[in-house]
Amino acid sequence: MAGFIDQIEPLKAAALAEFAAATDLAAMEQARVNHLGSNGRFTALLKGLGALPKEEKPAAGKAINLAKNELEAALVQKRGELELRAALPKDPTDFTAPGRRRVVGKLHPLTQVTEDIVRSFRKIGFAVADGPEVEDEYHCFDALNTPADHPARDSQDTFYVGAVPSATAGQQNAPQRGLLRTHTSSVQIRVMKSQPPPVRIIVPGRVYRRDNADATHNPTFHQVEGLYVDRNVTVGDLKGTVEFVFRELMGPETKIRFRPHYFSYTEPSFEIDFSSSLTRKMGKEWLEIAGCGMVHPQVFENVGYDPEVWTGWAFGFGIERIAMIRYGISDIRLFYENNLRFLRQF
Ligand code: DAH
Repeated sequence: MAGFIDQIEPLKAAALAEFAAATDLAAMEQARVNHLGSNGRFTALLKGLGALPKEEKPAAGKAINLAKNELEAALVQKRGELELRAALPKDPTDFTAPGRRRVVGKLHPLTQVTEDIVRSFRKIGFAVADGPEVEDEYHCFDALNTPADHPARDSQDTFYVGAVPSATAGQQNAPQRGLLRTHTSSVQIRVMKSQPPPVRIIVPGRVYRRDNADATHNPTFHQVEGLYVDRNVTVGDLKGTVEFVFRELMGPETKIRFRPHYFSYTEPSFEIDFSSSLTRKMGKEWLEIAGCGMVHPQVFENVGYDPEVWTGWAFGFGIERIAMIRYGISDIRLFYENNLRFLRQF
């Protein structure tokens, strides 16, 4: 019988040749079993190592281990190549073909307008706050000085849900009738109850009304609320702030005017009209755009602020309305249909 060491090379060469000849992963696996499997030819030689005389063992062991390492490396390498080949497409790739265009999405026009509004208010130090869309009557109406028999509740009819726990309503811990909030004004109450003055926030968010959808109404839409509370706050501050923001949103030549109005949570209250090239494009000099006023002392009482010390103003306006005027959109429902031919224009 040939010497142990002399058998190594021919066995190794045979194994390497079979590895090299394998053209797929199955053939490769068969080649591995033939040589390195527990009944493989190379393995058989390896098993013979133990029977060698003691003095031959070190040299023989070293030689066969080197060969084994070489075979295992070759196995890994060839298997990697075959796996890669198996993963490649069967048809050849035409690298000269034009690339496939990726459709890049964009922000919804209402999101764009909301971000513009937020950006403008951030410049003058307002923080963004939010609150739940499923509200309770206390935060949406009562705390805003709008009791159950108040006529303003008719114009803000909404969708009622079951009782919700009233987490922060100071005076009542009983469960409250739940509703979808009709305006973002409810967040005024939540914020003031959660922190001491001063307050300087805006609240963008979705609101709900029991309205039938038409060109200017939808049962859900979006508002931005603003609230500023500090010492010695005046209507002048309110007007200056509103003017700054509307000029940013609607162009630098925008003018605003206040008309007396009524809201139960502000006194005095105003409606804000604005005028710009955009309103003239719509055939009007002035367009009504927002409600606002000085925070009613009763609202301060309701949240635990001392009305003798603190003053403030608040406003609210619809985001859809701003977007419609800005982009000349005549039907509010277009915002919610998600027709790509409409959305791609913004
Ligand atoms: N909540 C009013 C609405 O939905 C808008 C509004 C008016 C908000 C006056 C205010 C405000 O904060 O002071 O029509």
